[in-house]
Amino acid sequence: MRELDRIVTEARAALAAIEDPDVLEQEKARYLGKSGKITERMKALALLSAEEKKQMGVLINRAKGEIEKTLAERREAIRRAALSRRLAEEALDVTLPGRCGERGALHPVTRTLERIESLFASIGFTVADGPEIETDFYNFTALNTPENHPARSMHDTFYLLDEEAGKVVENALLRTHTSPIQARYMRAHVEKYGKSDPMPEIRIIAPGRVYRVDSDATHSPMFHQVEGLWVGESVSFADLKGVISDFLRRFFETEELSVRFRPSFFPFTEPSAEIDVAFAHGAQKGRWLEIAGCGMVHPNVLANAGIDAERYTGFAFGFGPDRLTMLRYGVNDLRFFFEGDLRFLRQFS
Ligand code: PHE
Repeated sequence: MRELDRIVTEARAALAAIEDPDVLEQEKARYLGKSGKITERMKALALLSAEEKKQMGVLINRAKGEIEKTLAERREAIRRAALSRRLAEEALDVTLPGRCGERGALHPVTRTLERIESLFASIGFTVADGPEIETDFYNFTALNTPENHPARSMHDTFYLLDEEAGKVVENALLRTHTSPIQARYMRAHVEKYGKSDPMPEIRIIAPGRVYRVDSDATHSPMFHQVEGLWVGESVSFADLKGVISDFLRRFFETEELSVRFRPSFFPFTEPSAEIDVAFAHGAQKGRWLEIAGCGMVHPNVLANAGIDAERYTGFAFGFGPDRLTMLRYGVNDLRFFFEGDLRFLRQFS
């Protein structure tokens, strides 16, 4: 029957254009649904004679079969297209290297700081902290540094510039050493325990960054210090020597280490000394290397903090942990530590 052929052709063309599975099922209804074109023909059979019914029935069934087959093919094609679209979208290049988290490591100077902290913690020191932008008072005045001391000059100290006002910010500088932490800590301690008799001991170390106008292979404008302070009723220079010598032997893990206290000067200690070490082995064998400054806390510094300098004494020291790290790992240029070059840093991970 021409009419049926037409319907099948029309259905094929209509179904072939469909991409969406829902639209496909709606379109199916137009032919095979309750009042679909094929279904209508089926219903019309009732009006025919038995012989005609038989003939027509075969033709209609064939047409129906054609449409169903087309539908099934189209469903499959749409399903496959959707699948390949998804595969393309979620494409996974299995030849790419895996994306794993990179393992970080501590900076060699940080390792040294942690090592120093734990060695001092083992003899009862706690860790103290202070600001990197300091006041003139804590960086110099409280530490008995006279007004005209050369360290206060612009050649040595970074002051902060107020760009808008075009002038130096009053009373703010980058701390040139960790010693202001001593002054801050003593004051806070006196505020808390000043009335106790005796006042509890102060035993702190204070690691941190410090800044000076200085730059070459062994000096960086930013470097580290570890301050130490022990104040109590009978703290002596002998205690200072014992604590430092013991610390250095433990830090470098050798008994064959000479330690020397060379008389020196700091405004905030009296007497004062530089601490030198000499190794019995290795590249630096037999050479005296300066690694710290130290001394008995000057009575004026104690008094500035409100501590009775007649009754209490103390010692203080300031280490250069960068230098200690260079010696421990055999690094000959300080700048390597602060350039962030991974080829250098990876050697310590
Ligand atoms: N602050 C001194 C410096 O930076 C070191 C030091 C600390 C000396 C404590 C004595 C006591 O050189």
